Amino acid sequence: MGDVGPVSDDIAAGSPASDTFLPGEGYLGDPAVRAEWDNRYADRQQLWSGRPNGALVAEVAGLTPGRVLDVGCGEGADAVWLARGGWDVTALEVSGVALERAAGHARDAGVSVRWVHAALTEAALPPASFDLVSAQYPALLRTPDAAAERALLAAVAPGGVLLLVHHAGMDTRHTHDSGFDPADYVWPSMVAALLTDDWKVEVNEQRPRVAPDGGAGAHHTDDVVLRARRLR
Ligand SMILES: C[S@@+](CC[C@H](N)C(=O)[O-])C[C@H]1O[C@@H](n2cnc3c(N)ncnc32)[C@H](O)[C@@H]1O
Repeated sequence: MGDVGPVSDDIAAGSPASDTFLPGEGYLGDPAVRAEWDNRYADRQQLWSGRPNGALVAEVAGLTPGRVLDVGCGEGADAVWLARGGWDVTALEVSGVALERAAGHARDAGVSVRWVHAALTEAALPPASFDLVSAQYPALLRTPDAAAERALLAAVAPGGVLLLVHHAGMDTRHTHDSGFDPADYVWPSMVAALLTDDWKVEVNEQRPRVAPDGGAGAHHTDDVVLRARRLR
């Protein structure tokens, strides 16, 4: 059966991955955030393309598979692709609707993933435990204490990599009718600003997006890619 509750230290020790997600059990996070994303996913049978993100595929090419945390895994295309590539995948997401779809895709692919139904800052992630922390277009809310930025960094093991990818230009986009306000969200520059001497920035750039065909985000043309390695 799937472990969908809080992530605990046994993740670091290699608790079993699973192909099952049980909705409604043990969500950790703000119910309003969960509801907002559940509604967004429930609006469509499939929200994203179903294919792994191009920046992830490119950046992971040179890495040795190990333990990876997929933050805001959505419908699971990246998590399934990573698991197929030999990674031990923990995939974290606030939307139970998305997680059910993701677990279905993993089952279809015959791979196991540890699904975690939680917000990044609420999940009891074991510190410094992941060889790769991947956050692809994560919609992380900004707080005065930079909790989400710090949680991303804290999850990376010494020698490991944080890969944070976002749509270019979103951070300066003007608030419009949809109510989207860039000031509400965490952007790569905010995480980059917190990097200390314990980190080496390997990539910090804007570049054309290698976008999978289809899906709700297909109109975005450029990525901002931050790839940083934790030295100690
Ligand atoms: C733009 S989508 C990207 C999904 C996926 N990474 C992809 O590239 O297809 C952002 C995702 O972040 C999730 N999310 C929002 N707030 C979150 C949080 N605090 N912790 C974890 N996931 C969150 C949303 O439910 C949504 O699935």
